[in-house]
Amino acid sequence: MSISTLTKVCHTNDIPKNEMRCIALAEKNVLVANTSEGIFVADEMCTHEDARLCDGNLSGTYVKCPLHGSRFDLATGKVLDDPANTDLVVYDVSVIDDNIYIR
Ligand code: FES
Repeated sequence: MSISTLTKVCHTNDIPKNEMRCIALAEKNVLVANTSEGIFVADEMCTHEDARLCDGNLSGTYVKCPLHGSRFDLATGKVLDDPANTDLVVYDVSVIDDNIYIR
């Protein structure tokens, strides 16, 4: 894959292990999580209402919404709890020279 088809998100050092950050990109804001299972990137907003998931809690690959508590699996985007009922958009991630990219 050509690097020109990728969008740089941040450097791996920007996201400490077992933490997550919201990152503003030119076209959207994304959540980046550095988990024990790897690095995951998803849309930053909960699919239920207007809450930034990076303000919630990260446990393994699960992120818990700070507003009503729905959890999402960042590895798949699957919603795990009510009240959200729409999966989260997650992105294919590539790490090249310690930089995190999405397709
Ligand atoms: S805003 Fe996230 S569960 Fe309601």
